[in-house]
Formats: sequence, structure tokens, C-alpha cells
Amino acid sequence: MTGQVITIDHPLVQHKLSLMRRVETTTAEFRALMREISLLMAYEVTRDLPLKPEPIQTPMASMLAPMLAAEKKLVLVSIMRAGQGLLEGMLELIPAARVGHIGLYRDPHTLIPIEYYFKVPTDIEDRDVLVVDPMLATGHSATAAVLRLRQTCPKSIRFVCLVAAPEGIQHFHEQHPDVPIYTAAVDEGLDEHGYILPGLGDAGDRLFGTR
Ligand code: URA
Repeated sequence: MTGQVITIDHPLVQHKLSLMRRVETTTAEFRALMREISLLMAYEVTRDLPLKPEPIQTPMASMLAPMLAAEKKLVLVSIMRAGQGLLEGMLELIPAARVGHIGLYRDPHTLIPIEYYFKVPTDIEDRDVLVVDPMLATGHSATAAVLRLRQTCPKSIRFVCLVAAPEGIQHFHEQHPDVPIYTAAVDEGLDEHGYILPGLGDAGDRLFGTR
């Protein structure tokens, strides 16, 4: 089974991603763009959320109005630390969503991702999960994060990033063919250090100014 990759090709998303990629984009600009692009990504990733009619009163009349059936049933899980940028923008659009965090570092000898932090809502098994991390590079962290999340039995999992490498997509979908990847771009590949080319550099460093 081959996994699904959904490329968000909306012109605003593409334009903002191009601005983020530029080396001369400052930390403040990068952060603002991350927030804006997160809102647009959230809009696309949630376009099939179910609605249910609820009675409301307008100033003119009462009506049955479509409301999100599952807003409180979403969990946004950020892979630390760059996931924080995507998380904050998406939360603005889905304020009732719950939030989880996963911290992973790569063992320098084995290159295996090691978990150092894991906190998700206790009732995650009743919820749909959006895992967010701007860069899907080798795919090792994303794959490990989703494997860990599966132990908590959420209703569904989607993965959201801004830039994906073909190698990362392949590795991720070998392990998780049922988890769709939403991305703004699929780039050419990885360099020898596992950075995406042409990419945008280190998303965490650019977001937090730690370059
Ligand atoms: N993580 C990043 O922030 N950038 C890359 O290119 C790869 C991994």
C-alpha cells in the first residue's frame, strides 16, 4: 500500500513558502510567515471535518447552523522544537483543539531517535490527531513520533509539514502507509547531513534565531 501525499498548492501557501526559503528572510519575518502559512495549512488539512447542524438565534431569526462536530476532538501534536511554529498558527484557527508534544533527539552513534518528552491528552483515543513538524527530511523523527502515538490509539493520524524530501516520504510511508502526509512542497532530496535541498535550512534555528 502506498501512502497518500497531499501537496497544498494554493498560491498563497506557495508564495509564503518561497519567502521562507530565502536566505535573507529575517527571524522576525520567518516567524510571521510561519504563522500565516500555518493558518492556510490548517484550513486545507481540516477541509473534510464533519459539520453538524445546531440551533442558533441570529438577530433576525432562529436557524439550524452548521457547526464543527469535532473541534474539541482534535489534538495537534508538535514534534519539538520546530513543530511549535506550525502548532501556534494552527491553534489560532482551531482554538478548542487539545495539544500534545513529543521531544526526540537523534543518538549521535546509532542515529536512532530517542524520546525525551511525551505528553498528550489522556483521552487521546477519542480524538483525531494532526502531527506537525515543518520539515520531513529523513523521516526518522516523524516515523518514531507516529509509532509512539499509535500506542495511545487515537482515532486517526495525519502528518502536516511544509517541506518534504522524497526519502522522508518513502521511509515514513513504509512504516505508516495509512497516515496521509500534507505538505506544501516535495523537494529534490537530502544532503549528506540530512538537510533538505533546496529546503529552507534548519527550521528551528530560523524560527528561534539560534542560527
Ligand atoms: N530539519 C530542518 O529543520 N531542516 C532540514 O532541512 C532538515 C531537517
